[in-house]
Amino acid sequence: MQFQWYPGHMTKAKRQMQEDIKLVDLVIELVDARIPLSSRNPDIDEIGRNKARLILLNKSDLADEKQNENWMQYFKGLGYYAVRLDARSRGGMKAVQAVIEKACKEKMERDRKRGIKNRPVRAMVVGIPNVGKSTFINTFAGKACAKTGNKPGVTKGKQWIRLNKNVELLDTPGILWPKFEDQSVGLRLALIGSIKDEILNIDELALELIKYLMMSYPVLLKERYGLTELVDEVKVLEEITKNRNCLKKGNEPDYAKAAALILDEYRTGKIGRITLESPQGM
Ligand code: G4P
Repeated sequence: MQFQWYPGHMTKAKRQMQEDIKLVDLVIELVDARIPLSSRNPDIDEIGRNKARLILLNKSDLADEKQNENWMQYFKGLGYYAVRLDARSRGGMKAVQAVIEKACKEKMERDRKRGIKNRPVRAMVVGIPNVGKSTFINTFAGKACAKTGNKPGVTKGKQWIRLNKNVELLDTPGILWPKFEDQSVGLRLALIGSIKDEILNIDELALELIKYLMMSYPVLLKERYGLTELVDEVKVLEEITKNRNCLKKGNEPDYAKAAALILDEYRTGKIGRITLESPQGM
């Protein structure tokens, strides 16, 4: 689920993406609503130029609703179609369908004028690992949708899922490589749990999270852990260790356990709906 990238991965992913994108009219890009910029790779703008573009702010159920709205405006302002989403739920799919229809309308109109009839619009899903691509395809396409070309002997080549009479979706998502070069991007990807915890210092990560929560979501932090005052991140970690009874053998405080607990509770939304970056910068 979590990922580690090497230069070879990126070259391969990029080449695959460049090939697949030639086949589609619309690029549906999933980003994580908690870190809409850090969970993107801006190279997709170059690879996907001349295509209709839809951004799905996925996992919006875990993100701050006010910030979801800010990010929607931000992406729309840049000329993308945008929809906020919980890919696990069928509820949001109507809105996606409506936007796809709208995005494709122009193209269908063009085709019609050229005398091309009944040519479905083709779309593909892209995004960095763990952003919810497979979940989205499963929920969106549903069980009822038959794959086109899914017959014996037709296994080679691309598989298209027919969504309705106008739209077909490539059944395998395109994998974008994250932009690790920027340290703050790496940090935020780690905070949402997209980088293996084994290669990170959990204590430092938890302290970074606490620092951010003290600044941007102090009330949620206090409420979740029964804190009365927020002096500094180290004191807060100590207090959470105590309040949650995180102890090693011999009744020594176990800060690592408390750090892991805080990170887990953030990632699963237990602390609250928290966004880590805003369009205005941090
Ligand atoms: P990928 O194809 O882009 O790599 O991502 P995938 O669909 O595998 O989703 C990664 C994880 O994110 C999954 O959790 C999935 O359930 C969860 N997820 C996807 N969309 C949403 C969403 O909108 N909201 C929330 N809260 N979670 C979402 P997992 O831990 O791998 O499995 P599980 O917890 O579902 O068992």
